[in-house]
Amino acid sequence: MKQSDAGIYKCPVCLSSFSLVDTKSEGKNIIYSILKCSNGHEFSIEEGIPNFTWPEELGNIDNETRLTYEKLAAEYDKFASFPFWTFKSDENEIRSDMSNRLNLREDSIVLEIGAGDGRGAEHVAKKLGYKGRFFIQELSPSFLKKSFERLKKYDQIIEFSIANASYIPFMDNFFDAAYHFGGISTFSDVKRCLSELLRVVKPGGKVLVGDESMGPWLRESNFGKIMMNSNPLFKYEIPLKDIPLDAREVKIEWIMMGAFFILEFTVGEGEPQANYHIPIPSERGGTHWSRYYGNLEGISEETKKLANEARKKSGKGMSEWLDEIVRKAAEAELNK
Ligand SMILES: C[S@@+](CC[C@H](N)C(=O)[O-])C[C@H]1O[C@@H](n2cnc3c(N)ncnc32)[C@H](O)[C@@H]1O
Repeated sequence: MKQSDAGIYKCPVCLSSFSLVDTKSEGKNIIYSILKCSNGHEFSIEEGIPNFTWPEELGNIDNETRLTYEKLAAEYDKFASFPFWTFKSDENEIRSDMSNRLNLREDSIVLEIGAGDGRGAEHVAKKLGYKGRFFIQELSPSFLKKSFERLKKYDQIIEFSIANASYIPFMDNFFDAAYHFGGISTFSDVKRCLSELLRVVKPGGKVLVGDESMGPWLRESNFGKIMMNSNPLFKYEIPLKDIPLDAREVKIEWIMMGAFFILEFTVGEGEPQANYHIPIPSERGGTHWSRYYGNLEGISEETKKLANEARKKSGKGMSEWLDEIVRKAAEAELNK
């Protein structure tokens, strides 16, 4: 870890700042240390790599996934491009297209989580200039190590760490873009992961995730059945309900013959706010707001019929007519 980056990280549990304890440095790099937050949470830096893994006892799926990837790391080159061959897709084109979707500038600050052996990161790193910053995170230490060699020539702008994608150790609004490809279907807390990605990206910045998910229209086809039989991860449903409220311009695209998805959105602030208060030109009248918040109680069918006739005669919208009548009646009652 570069000494100058120590202040950038925040505690993944409580987001407070760290101080360094028992630090051993070599030149401008911290090799061993303990990052201790103001609430007492501690994370180690070993061989220059901070380990922010949280919870200490990972959820079952995350733990299994980490063990699987730890075993797979040495042989990963055999498997990594297999999905692209299967779906007659050009891996470089697909990864380059993903990096284009992040709207990067030369000085962008970017996060990749679950980065694997860095084969996707290469496409992002080459778009960043010397003023850019690229933070690369992985849950499996062996996988992360595999990316060091591949990304060596971008060393000046890259910072590596071990972390769980659902507990991201950075302050709010720090990144211009954040992304992940290939593993979200096994993350144990996808909702938290998406809301963490949104939290750490600045308003207006891009979040992108992608993974296996057979297009719903293909699931009963031979193509769908054969693929889902070979790899049950293709049965994964795109986590639409886990998209945070602050997401804007949400786009979903199926790629690789419809077997993988890309979900991307721009970071907004809060939930969308419509023009709730404009009068709705119709017999019912009122505004979106008054229709939702202005209801009082049910009335008899007979009164409703009379009210409809009277409203018609007045030429007003029902909401305006009712508002006037109820207000008058309420004021009269209160002034008695
Ligand atoms: C199929 S690999 C994809 C790697 C890389 N993103 C790529 O495009 O080649 C999935 C990666 O997600 C990582 N991963 C799985 N669960 C994770 C989690 N909860 N947090 C962070 N990374 C995770 C795995 O260790 C693995 O490296």
